[in-house]
Amino acid sequence: MTLAKWIDLKAVSDPRGLLVVAEAGRQIPFDIRRVYFMRDLKVDEPRGFHAHKALEQVAVCVAGSCSIILDDGTTREELRCEDPTKGLYVGPTIWHEMQDFSPDCVLLMFASAEYDEADYIRDMSEFKGKDELMSIHPTAIVADGANVSPDAKIGAYAVIGKAEIGSGCVIHPHVVIEDGCILGERVEVFPSAYIGKEPKGAGAIARQPEFERRLVIGNDCSVGPGSTLYYDTNIGPSTLIGDGASIREKCRIGRECIISRFVTINYNTVVGDRTKIMDNTHITGNAIIGNDVFISVLVGTANDNLVRAGYGDHVRGPIIEDGAVIGVGATILPGVVIGKKATVAAGAVATKNVEEGALVAGMPARQIRSASE
Ligand SMILES: CC(C)(COP(=O)(O)OP(=O)(O)OC[C@H]1O[C@@H](n2cnc3c(N)ncnc32)[C@H](O)[C@@H]1OP(=O)(O)O)[C@@H](O)C(=O)NCCC(=O)NCCS
Repeated sequence: MTLAKWIDLKAVSDPRGLLVVAEAGRQIPFDIRRVYFMRDLKVDEPRGFHAHKALEQVAVCVAGSCSIILDDGTTREELRCEDPTKGLYVGPTIWHEMQDFSPDCVLLMFASAEYDEADYIRDMSEFKGKDELMSIHPTAIVADGANVSPDAKIGAYAVIGKAEIGSGCVIHPHVVIEDGCILGERVEVFPSAYIGKEPKGAGAIARQPEFERRLVIGNDCSVGPGSTLYYDTNIGPSTLIGDGASIREKCRIGRECIISRFVTINYNTVVGDRTKIMDNTHITGNAIIGNDVFISVLVGTANDNLVRAGYGDHVRGPIIEDGAVIGVGATILPGVVIGKKATVAAGAVATKNVEEGALVAGMPARQIRSASE
């Protein structure tokens, strides 16, 4: 992408000479509040070396030639100015330097405001950090009534409703945070996460979920890119939600948990503290999972033996008690209780309750070891 925005001035040339016209609102894209020019410039003494916070300018080399370097912090481009009928637009937050002046160079500048020293950024390191310094990116939309801590950062194109964003939070670009969401301190939300999604039932047998338009994320949590958290869910402090994970309404997730990449947790499920649920696992609705549980990848859980029979009391997720381990690819059927510190082997289908400390394997899962063995 080029930084060069050349403006054609109105040029009238006839045998008597060249007439060039610049009018505000026609060729010049702002109200001209100041005009200045430079001449008698030294070829080896470059000038400029600053950016402006808000000032807009158009530079026209009306005699001779010179180079203007433009730098937006990412792209740096050197442009030769030698045509008096063309202006070079120098926008706000563009670092510029002028150099290589011909001896006859006259550089004319149109500016959108009177001189104001406070509008200058003269320090290159301050300029390079300008995006960092912008705590709310100009393209972000933050609702009136949002309570954003002054040291929180809101990235480009983020949309923040009437939410509370605590001290030290970093909200990356394209995140949506709806009304009523409360983020504690130092929460980092990665790009394109959706916080506070409204639950909707689907189809003729849809549950009509009741929910509060509220969602709490504790201090020091991290919410991965593209993940979705529905309303009326609480996430305890220091919990990590991985890329693309989805947690539905009315869930209570404890502290220091890992809900890994692309995990889906359905409605009204409780997860204790320090529990890890690994990639691509599905935790069904109305499940209860204790503290210090480890659930491996690609685990399936179910909550309804009367498939498609609606949303009555028979819809019960499994109960996985404290310290239990569920192996890769295991399946746990509705209402099954996995006792404390029990292990469900890789690929097992747990159709019946598992004793505390026991090891079960196979399909259907059979006990192959008790707690005492
Ligand atoms: C169940 C498990 C813990 C048993 O490990 P172990 O105590 O070392 O047992 P062994 O490998 O000695 O196997 C004992 C018996 O159980 C069988 N067995 C082991 N794992 C089994 C499984 N997942 N399903 C069915 N049978 C299994 C073995 O074939 C062996 O049978 P045999 O005596 O007839 O030869 C282990 O195999 C397992 O499934 N681990 C889960 C791994 C996992 O998912 N990790 C997730 C994090 S990456």
